[in-house]
Amino acid sequence: MAKIARYPSLLPFTGKVDGPTARAASAAPAKQDKDHALWREKSLRRLFTIGHIEHENELEQSTRDHIVRESMEVLRSNDRGGYTVPAEGLYPFQWNWDSAIVAAGWAVFDELRAWKELETLFSDQWKDGMVASINFHKFSKTYFPGPEIWGTPENPSKTSGISQPPVAALSARFMYEHTAHPVEAKQKIEDLFPKILAWHRWWYKARDPNNTGVVAILHPWESGMDNSPAWDESMTFPIDPTLPPYERQDLTHVNANMRPTKDTYDRYLTLLYRFKRENFYDPDKLYEISPFRVTDLCVNSILFRANRDLRWLALQLGKTDAVAEIEGWLDNGFEGFKKLWDEEAGLFKCQDQITGKLEDAAISAAFLPLFAGVATREQAARLVENLSTWLKHVKYSVPSLDPQDPRFEQLRYWRGPIWLIINWMISNGLRHYGYDELADRIRNDSIELTNKAGLREYFDPVTGDGAGGTKFSWTAAMCLAWLDRNAVIAIGHKMSGHKDYLN
Ligand code: DGY
Repeated sequence: MAKIARYPSLLPFTGKVDGPTARAASAAPAKQDKDHALWREKSLRRLFTIGHIEHENELEQSTRDHIVRESMEVLRSNDRGGYTVPAEGLYPFQWNWDSAIVAAGWAVFDELRAWKELETLFSDQWKDGMVASINFHKFSKTYFPGPEIWGTPENPSKTSGISQPPVAALSARFMYEHTAHPVEAKQKIEDLFPKILAWHRWWYKARDPNNTGVVAILHPWESGMDNSPAWDESMTFPIDPTLPPYERQDLTHVNANMRPTKDTYDRYLTLLYRFKRENFYDPDKLYEISPFRVTDLCVNSILFRANRDLRWLALQLGKTDAVAEIEGWLDNGFEGFKKLWDEEAGLFKCQDQITGKLEDAAISAAFLPLFAGVATREQAARLVENLSTWLKHVKYSVPSLDPQDPRFEQLRYWRGPIWLIINWMISNGLRHYGYDELADRIRNDSIELTNKAGLREYFDPVTGDGAGGTKFSWTAAMCLAWLDRNAVIAIGHKMSGHKDYLN
């Protein structure tokens, strides 16, 4: 097949900066403006001259070009000047793991803007190292619970009082490794590294005080998989009878059958108010008093992989003390993961730390230890066997719950639908263990889903329809940095670490 020029219809870079980033930049000093224009020019040149694609189907490529252009547009339109909202209206603030994923998307066409995303994320880091799940920046009435409900110590409240999966080290590593501007990127990493390290230390101090190697989440929102059936049993604590009346905003943006139920929200808020009463989210106290304390596979797998990347960054910067500290976390984590393996099911499971029981639900995060590189080869084989069975029951991969589970709901948030970021992580992990065919299937399904349904928040695994929010930032970022055949960042399957832990 003939070679096809990439992005033929896109205009070459003119030096003119447009969109919301530009609006923010125009208020900045002239030098900063010039530097940004320079970075952007170099990044765009790289994007548009990345070369030609061989053996490519022309029609498919033009569809992909369309998605790439749309993805860039979504990031630009969700840019609020230094941070990107996940979706207009539905999520009007800076969400932690969304933002870190989105940084990798920005890096494809505007590296400076990508670093800015991470810098803004860390600008409200707590003194103890925590990076909160939400940074509020500007007030908005379109989301509940907003800053007035969280009421963290500052007035007005700048952040929520809990955290979210620690993705930042992953993006920082991709961005640094693939930069077209090594000198500037090194400076960015020098500044960010101690902040990310402090955040990982926080996870161990605040969420694993007994040094088990795996950390706890104290609220389902900390996992990011809010209403996963994995915590149905752990969410049976009593609802606070004094809960103030509240009005959900999510239901004004998205159908109720795609969102958590009222009962679940009552419990989310029971936890929130309980934590606020505890000296405004004092993490040491929270660990003791929370009626919800779970070892979550999503946070722990991401933390493990992030530690691998943080170690890689520490090596680049010659921080030998940090390297040793991180290797300790990795070795300890490998031990900690052992007790999350359910031999009978052939899957990893989340664990309720209060009862000590493994959670019964088999969820997509069961496959994330592959992404962490913490599963043994035998465990990987069992996981692949299970995943292949799941996929016989749905058209598209990977549902967030085993489709054979009676609780499976193909549209309800984390109780069935597909999330592209999880697909990327699982597929990346599968490649590491040599399961390329299954990894390709997941990638191809992901491409088909975005082609079919657009840049939606999540997708129905049975019909392939889009669900939840529209023009969704991290879905756009995944298209740019992962699904696009020639992604500049090419979020590949590089796994680093001092041991491979596979045997
Ligand atoms: C929500 O409101 O749906 C978020 O996931 C909480 O962070």
